[in-house]
Amino acid sequence: MERNNLLINLKDIHFSYPGPRKVFEGLNFQLRDGERVGLIGPNGSGKTTLFQIIMGLIKPSSGVVELFGQPMKDEKDFRRMRLKIGLLFQDPDDQLFSPTVLEDVAFGPLNQGKSVEEAKGIARETLDSLGLKGFEDRVTHKLSGGEKRLVSLATVLAMRPRVLLLDEPTTGLDMETTERLVDILNGLELSYIFISHDMDFILQTTDRVYGMVKGKIVSEEEAVPHTHYHVHGFGRLPHSHSKAQGIPLGEAGHNESDNAGVANGGGEPGMKRTIKMRQMEKNQKGTVRKVSASGDMGRRIREMGLVPGVEIQIQGRAPLKDPVAVKIKDYVLTLRNDEASFIFVEVDD
Ligand SMILES: Nc1ncnc2c1ncn2[C@@H]1O[C@H](COP(=O)(O)OP(=O)(O)OP(=O)(O)O)[C@@H](O)[C@H]1O
Ligand SMILES: [Mg+2]
Repeated sequence: MERNNLLINLKDIHFSYPGPRKVFEGLNFQLRDGERVGLIGPNGSGKTTLFQIIMGLIKPSSGVVELFGQPMKDEKDFRRMRLKIGLLFQDPDDQLFSPTVLEDVAFGPLNQGKSVEEAKGIARETLDSLGLKGFEDRVTHKLSGGEKRLVSLATVLAMRPRVLLLDEPTTGLDMETTERLVDILNGLELSYIFISHDMDFILQTTDRVYGMVKGKIVSEEEAVPHTHYHVHGFGRLPHSHSKAQGIPLGEAGHNESDNAGVANGGGEPGMKRTIKMRQMEKNQKGTVRKVSASGDMGRRIREMGLVPGVEIQIQGRAPLKDPVAVKIKDYVLTLRNDEASFIFVEVDD
């Protein structure tokens, strides 16, 4: 049994590529059994590099990598662990190398010691589960970008890993395929870390969000600068404010896809329809129907009183990333726009 259920334990990791810029300066990170973690951060902050260090593909200049409770000393240690940890590369062309899809997906199970027939069986089953039935004999390098990403995911899942590391799994996937991926991932009993810039996806598939900031990993509350105003009644509830205002996280905490995930969109005039809160007009009233954020963000939104059934009114709404002010009962709250995205509200058409 792993010590303290720690599947991944990174201690005081320092790393630089050749050149003066440091990528990690004393990074610490732990993944426990059953945890589902999202990792956000600006381009070039070191997210992909972190996965490569976990997999032993690059070596830190100092610090300790422990996997499944064991310190990794050499390539032999990492090789054993790579059978239990599945890495989805950011670029599918780094993942796929066999002539056909079936060979690529069967490669992992074969490597784990399965017979050719067993490995092909697992490969077919995995392809089916990802909606890729009929792709077995397709030539890997001729697949579309999205197809390549799904086949890459199949190569990883076919190894039945204990831990999944997915580096931007939704890039290039259409909305329907992304939704299927959300369902698949939510159905897996696995621990995982996802790197993504797609906050909708992260919130639907993870319980906790971390950010990569200045060579370290910090919790989502510190990583995503935010403000919310509160009045007395809510102010007594536990909440915390960012200590990291001004950290250049770029678009990491935001999502511009106004139409993504809208439930019951459209609808006939005079009917009720459900839209995201930030699509509401100034002064428009509505009833909170669903809050889809989970983890720390979900808790914070619930603490603010935005729970299903509550009547709200939009006080002010600024375009794009600026906050949405919303009135609940007699209180006015201001939410970051990406928080507002995950609150679905029933409004009259
Ligand atoms: N092989 C390499 N040699 C030199 N520098 C590298 C190499 N790979 C990455 N870097 C640099 O290290 C930094 C971290 O890169 P990394 O790919 O880990 O970032 P990332 O957070 O995954 O970014 P993105 O969101 O764009 O994928 C970047 O400044 C990048 O230019
Ligand atoms: Mg990357």
